[in-house]
Amino acid sequence: MSLSSQLVYLNGEFMPQDQARIPVLDRGFLFGDGVYEVIPVYGGRPLRLAEHLRRLERSLSAIHMASPLSDEAWSQIIDRLIDGPEDQQIYIQVTRGVQPKRDHAIPATITPTVYAMGSRIAPIPTGGIKAVTVTDIRWDRCDIKAITLLANVLLRQEAISRGAAEAVIVRDGLALEGAASNLFIVQKQTIITPPKGDTILPGITRDLVLEIAQAAGFETVERTISLPELRSADEIWFTSSTREILSVTELDGLPVSGGETGPVWRSVLAAYQDYKRRLREGSIS
Ligand code: PDD
Repeated sequence: MSLSSQLVYLNGEFMPQDQARIPVLDRGFLFGDGVYEVIPVYGGRPLRLAEHLRRLERSLSAIHMASPLSDEAWSQIIDRLIDGPEDQQIYIQVTRGVQPKRDHAIPATITPTVYAMGSRIAPIPTGGIKAVTVTDIRWDRCDIKAITLLANVLLRQEAISRGAAEAVIVRDGLALEGAASNLFIVQKQTIITPPKGDTILPGITRDLVLEIAQAAGFETVERTISLPELRSADEIWFTSSTREILSVTELDGLPVSGGETGPVWRSVLAAYQDYKRRLREGSIS
């Protein structure tokens, strides 16, 4: 099925994507006034759906909006958009809605625009990737999954133009996260990731990786990572819903883990794949 004729959800209706239309006075279009979620689906089963919906609610609440739909309604929409057993992702976007004229102030009454679509998950690199450090140019509420992603887009593009696949965002001497992923390092078998707060997105994969790593017997610590620690780490990883756990084998042109994927990454990734297999088989929900 071509992308354009794929079924999508817009404001209460399902329709082919090429028929979905948003008015130009939508505040998402004019101001980037909205939030989103990306939920991976394996074997037709969304991974950590409840956690994704809680984060959506949290993002909405942070921008003074209530969730427009119940968990049950979200779940029904997602089920209808799931297309076969292949690995896929569901994208959900809620904007504040359409107003009669362009005005920064939020109108007292406004109906949110609700959109959702599915797509295949792109192949995930199995070897290592290159990363570069970049200076943070984002705002102070990186914990909100806002659709306003221009800074992240520019930072990812900076990484690409420097020959890398992802950026490590650095602010005040601390390595925070990727342009669209969370950051982990391994130091002498201990797995370290920055704590939740307003400088990172509280990643659902991040939490799952911590849980899986602990269950596999690794020590995990949530604390800040300084730039020197990043540079001397035994391993560096990025995690996200669409790219699972990526291993960084080159940082700013220098090898990480001797230029090879690391043993801790390999064992946590194997446990992650096992989790996905159990989700596909229905032995976990
Ligand atoms: N991005 N940090 C940022 C800035 C992100 O954009 C993302 C995910 C993450 C990882 O969060 P999670 O594990 O819940 O996917 C961390 C999504 C995939 C995107 O924008 O497409």
